[in-house]
Amino acid sequence: MEPKKFFIETFGCQMNHHDSEKVAGTLTQMGYVPTEDASEADLLLLNTCNIREKANQKVFSRLGSLQKSYGTKPGAKVGLLGCMAQMEGPKIFEKAPNVDLVVGSSSYSFIPRLLEKLEQGAPHVIDVSQDVDRLFETYPQSRENPYKAFVTIMEGCNRYCAFCVVPYTRGPERSRSGEHVLSEIRRLASEGYPEVMLLGQTVNSWRDPAGAIPTFAELLKRIAAVPGIRRIRFTSPHPSDFHCEIVEVMETTPEVCNQVHLPVQSGSTEVLRRMKRDYTRDEYLRRVEFIKAAQREIALSTDIIVGFPGESQEDFEETLSLLEQVRYDQIFSFKYSARPGTEAFTFGDTIPEEEKSRRLAVLQEFQRKIQIERNASLVGREFEIFVEGKSQKDLNELMGRTTQNKIVNFAGSPELLGKFARVRVTNSFPNSLAGELI
Ligand code: SAH
Ligand code: F3S
Repeated sequence: MEPKKFFIETFGCQMNHHDSEKVAGTLTQMGYVPTEDASEADLLLLNTCNIREKANQKVFSRLGSLQKSYGTKPGAKVGLLGCMAQMEGPKIFEKAPNVDLVVGSSSYSFIPRLLEKLEQGAPHVIDVSQDVDRLFETYPQSRENPYKAFVTIMEGCNRYCAFCVVPYTRGPERSRSGEHVLSEIRRLASEGYPEVMLLGQTVNSWRDPAGAIPTFAELLKRIAAVPGIRRIRFTSPHPSDFHCEIVEVMETTPEVCNQVHLPVQSGSTEVLRRMKRDYTRDEYLRRVEFIKAAQREIALSTDIIVGFPGESQEDFEETLSLLEQVRYDQIFSFKYSARPGTEAFTFGDTIPEEEKSRRLAVLQEFQRKIQIERNASLVGREFEIFVEGKSQKDLNELMGRTTQNKIVNFAGSPELLGKFARVRVTNSFPNSLAGELI
């Protein structure tokens, strides 16, 4: 009998992408084979995101377009995974009657059992139980990127920022044991992965449940000592738990990349208070100060929300002035999206859509100028890059990243893929650099 085929499409953050790798690994172990063609799949899965309303809409419209392919394979099953599945639960079967399977973001260990029930004729199956104890069982994993491996070190979040669904979709904060993390990384190194990306909703809040490794900073050091690991990144740290010890490890440990993504959300202390971010503008800037004072030049990026309920023009201008003060290397910016179930939902969505769009455009243009200047200052300098793939701009060229996570496109032979190379920067753009091999 021909093996069953599965198709999986992922929306949202890196944790979702990594969850899809775990689901793919689980299915592969069950004898399924992956396919990129939805029309030949026996099992179609969408791993969904719920962070903003738009993410939700995307999933339903994608379900609609996939529907066209259902018919082509008789008996094909459709499943929704991830944060939207977690949040909407059985309501999904009403909104999208063609869905057969709903699995929340903490229930993936149940997939084999759920599929079995479907095969036995259940009309549809669901698990959104948040079985938090099982999260860190070692899942089989089918990794998408041959060079860079995601490693979950903690999951969930207890911070309940007023705008955010994550504590509801991903459940309470829990950390994986240091030894478990290290043994996965040793295995990855022996399989030839030079780079690991540590994942967690507030990654630096990691605490070793076994008590063997005292801090997140110490965990970074231990990972750096694993032979074969040359680059370590992590995302996303919460500013309140970002201590100078982490910067000290970066200064002394070249394997830990000199790049920090430190989500700020707003430059206004008043907005931060209502967002329940647990720090003021000044407290955030103090962290930026010690990051910038480090002996290695650390690249900084952030997340910003514009149009949070009650955000005044003055509040917004404080966000602009924060960008001016920090001069980030990159920002990810979003219009506030009111999410049912969160605290801010009760504040009302007070900033009109057009005004949110205007603020977003102003913010992005403001930042673009900063990035143009920052990247231009790198022209003429030499960097070590890790060659990760083909350039998106020109498929005849290659793309690598510096330890600061700057993208460098350059001409080179495909033999360099997966290797480290040295380049000199010859030109700069707002979001990337051009370089030549030296
Ligand atoms: N701690 C997580 C946050 C995940 S959400 C992390 O840093 O990875 C990622 C970003 O989405 C947040 O930092 C925030 O900027 C944005 N976001 C979250 N909820 C939002 C909402 N309701 N509306 C708009 N943007 C939101
Ligand atoms: Fe969300 Fe705040 Fe946690 S942004 S993931 S509730 S730290």
